[in-house]
Amino acid sequence: MKIFLAGATGVIGRSLIPLLVQEGHKVFGMIRDESQARAIIKMGAKPVIADAFDRDAVFTALQESQPDVVIHQITSLSGGSSVDNAKIRIEGTENLVDAAKSAGVKQMIAQSISWAYEPGEGPATEEEMLDITAPYPRKTTIEGIMKLEEKVSQMPEFVILRYGTLYGPGTWYAKDGIFADQVRRQEIAATDGVVSFLHVDDAARASLLALEWPSGSVNIVDDHPASGNVWLPVYVSTIGAPHPSIQTGSNRGERGASNTKARKEYGWEPIHSSWSNGFEHNL
Ligand SMILES: NC(=O)c1ccc[n+]([C@@H]2O[C@H](COP(=O)([O-])OP(=O)(O)OC[C@H]3O[C@@H](n4cnc5c(N)ncnc54)[C@H](OP(=O)(O)O)[C@@H]3O)[C@@H](O)[C@H]2O)c1
Repeated sequence: MKIFLAGATGVIGRSLIPLLVQEGHKVFGMIRDESQARAIIKMGAKPVIADAFDRDAVFTALQESQPDVVIHQITSLSGGSSVDNAKIRIEGTENLVDAAKSAGVKQMIAQSISWAYEPGEGPATEEEMLDITAPYPRKTTIEGIMKLEEKVSQMPEFVILRYGTLYGPGTWYAKDGIFADQVRRQEIAATDGVVSFLHVDDAARASLLALEWPSGSVNIVDDHPASGNVWLPVYVSTIGAPHPSIQTGSNRGERGASNTKARKEYGWEPIHSSWSNGFEHNL
């Protein structure tokens, strides 16, 4: 298949291109800047230059590449701003979907998150509502996700991958990542808030497998949602940081997510089924 990957240089894109190429797909990697072209070519893909905010450039990129599928892995998280990230989710997605539809693309696979559900008991399933009544600052993230998902659902076929919190090489949770630094500075407390993790390689692999999945939204998370007072002590000992302080309570929506739909209906299995083994061998 011809696949157009937006977000080709990101932490998931870098892991995904080799998987797509290995399966025999022809991959177009969307980049913002010519200097990234060499890295894309080295991975076996063809670079296509377009900024997601430049509507005309995105339309031209899609018209010229005429892909069968668009995989949307664009985020704007490197700067750590949830406002910037919501902006790219809303405006970037609008440009990508409109351009894909006008180029006759059939399917889009898009990255979403699994911690946008309304508060409730236990890990969230896809049947549950997104947290539309959340107060700010959470509302910024929820609005970005809702608009992204609504827009992607306008494609003839679409798969929305609601990823867990990413860990692994190149992520914030890597030994040299931003989160690890915050933990070393003892800025992060262990709370009752529950997180569902996902290794970055499982995120990339789910994107590949989703080429064959039916339209809809699906949680892509590991098997073991865990509260901060369980996973953070393991994490700090893995990276050799001081023990975290313990705090009771959690933030809104910190309930983890269930992967039952992905496992039972789509036959998906995470390679890294538990964050605890994943931390030990893959940070
Ligand atoms: N579910 C999760 O927990 C989750 C998901 C994603 C990321 N993260 C975290 O966020 C950290 C940063 O993510 P990241 O390294 O993937 O970087 P990022 O800054 O979020 O960028 C992701 C991708 O989007 C592209 N992009 C951003 N703005 C764009 C625009 N206006 N037009 C076209 N492309 C654009 C980037 O291209 P450029 O190379 O040009 O910037 C890159 O390919 C990761 O280390 C990870 O820990 C977490």
